[in-house]
Amino acid sequence: MATPLSGEIMGNMRTQLSFSPLAEVETDLLAVLAVDAQTAKSSEAKPQPVLLTTNILIQAAAAAVLASGEFKAGANETLLWHGPSGVAGKRLLIVGLGKQAKVTAHSVRNAAGTAVRFAKPRGIRELVFALPESELLPVAASARAAIEGASIGDFDPDTYRSDRKDQSIESFIVVVPADADKSAVEAAFAEGVIIGESQNFTRTLVNEPGNKLTPSILGQRAAQMADEVGLSVKNFSTDKLHELKMGAFWSVSQGSAEPPALIVLRYEPEGVTDGPVLGLVGKGITFDSGGISLKPGTDMDKMKYDMAGGAAMIGAMRAIALLKPKVRVLCIVCAAENMPDGKAQKPGDVQTAMPISFDKPGKTIEIINTDAEGRLVLADGLTYARQLGATHLIDAATLTGACVVALGHTNAGAFANDEAVWEKFNGALETSGEKFWRLPLGDEYADQIKSDIGDIKNTGGRWGGASTAAEFLHVFAEETPWIHLDIAGLAWVEDSKPYIAKGPSGVGVRSVLEWVRSFE
Ligand code: BES
Ligand code: MN
Ligand code: ZN
Repeated sequence: MATPLSGEIMGNMRTQLSFSPLAEVETDLLAVLAVDAQTAKSSEAKPQPVLLTTNILIQAAAAAVLASGEFKAGANETLLWHGPSGVAGKRLLIVGLGKQAKVTAHSVRNAAGTAVRFAKPRGIRELVFALPESELLPVAASARAAIEGASIGDFDPDTYRSDRKDQSIESFIVVVPADADKSAVEAAFAEGVIIGESQNFTRTLVNEPGNKLTPSILGQRAAQMADEVGLSVKNFSTDKLHELKMGAFWSVSQGSAEPPALIVLRYEPEGVTDGPVLGLVGKGITFDSGGISLKPGTDMDKMKYDMAGGAAMIGAMRAIALLKPKVRVLCIVCAAENMPDGKAQKPGDVQTAMPISFDKPGKTIEIINTDAEGRLVLADGLTYARQLGATHLIDAATLTGACVVALGHTNAGAFANDEAVWEKFNGALETSGEKFWRLPLGDEYADQIKSDIGDIKNTGGRWGGASTAAEFLHVFAEETPWIHLDIAGLAWVEDSKPYIAKGPSGVGVRSVLEWVRSFE
């Protein structure tokens, strides 16, 4: 099992696998899953909750409750009772997975989060979670999902409350069906621990307010993590930006008293000297006021999470370092604060982006709106990744409000300039359980960002804002196979759900990780 890293900021949940018979496990809370097996579609058809355990003692204990019809096994629906007869556990919690036909490992992920978030406010510090015994789901995948979901559920964002009560779960034990392939389940479980912790590491960063997490401090946090997991790390600032001619990135930081941070993490597995080099690029705006094109006051406080793309890449790198896929990965986070000031850039200014090589000129960008700053820092980040040898690119950014308008808080936006690389990403989503919806690139969108005075402008007018922003990045990714993730609508959970607290979500970590692993 992985040793807990940066433990104090991520809770101290002990996790363990158990192969004991369910009814004999002594615990404060035993959580068992159920599906709704009703297949008829008519509104008359009653739900048919079915427990996903073959243990006859548990089935007997739950029979009367299930027969009562008050529990419908809807997704993340819960039912608790004390002193279940014939069962060693003190309390039995049934968690619904929803309609049987729709159940996936991701349903188990959410159900585990739901069980944890059920226990936390009730002062229950240890729980036992029974993996589904069913043909529906491969055991290893659900073991991994369960532990990921438990870590995600355990996270609460109340770091700075002076009366903060740490309600973290102390022990989360996953019970595995007796006939499961033990070593496969153990491996998947160990992965789940790493992935869940890495996602929470990202959430811890995203949760930090702008005054506590400046660009330099983000760099320090990344460096500390890198030392713990054995990644190489370099933190640069203003001088390096000038040296590399990163005129677009620098222009965003010039209005802030906080210096920018160019964070470069590298994962180089032993013995891998050829094949792809994957470039992960993240937007790390630690606070986005809009700059001279100042944002309205409503919800401006939320713009502390404008570094969520960068934080997702840093969290993915943590997981990569610990899971050790056989592919080289480099990660670039462009961190800056976007502020209005006498020195800030102005609408109408023209900036020169980093050239791909020193014998070529950098592309010129007309600044129409200083609030379209994410694409500016990413432009230079993408170019730098290519210069460092990235053969494939993926970027993540809270880039546009337009993407939130299009997809709401349900799906994040994804773009790709290459079908093969998109197929890999789409495949990664099956494992990650994260929701991304592909949106279009296209020459017409590219036309919208042509500038009269220079090469391109940083906004494309009112319509199609997620796609014109993506086309802006495309100018710098050029022909390199590239995925762009616009996570503006998903980086922050607006309303708490049974399985996740309101606050930073850590979206992107799992999908980027799986995309990377698909290159092994
Ligand atoms: N960080 C914002 C995008 C954003 C909006 C993130 C809502 C999370 C929630 C980005 O820098 C921005 O301000 N984008 C502008 C672009 C516009 C000026 C072309 C936007 O979307 O309004
Ligand atoms: Mn902005
Ligand atoms: Zn922004």
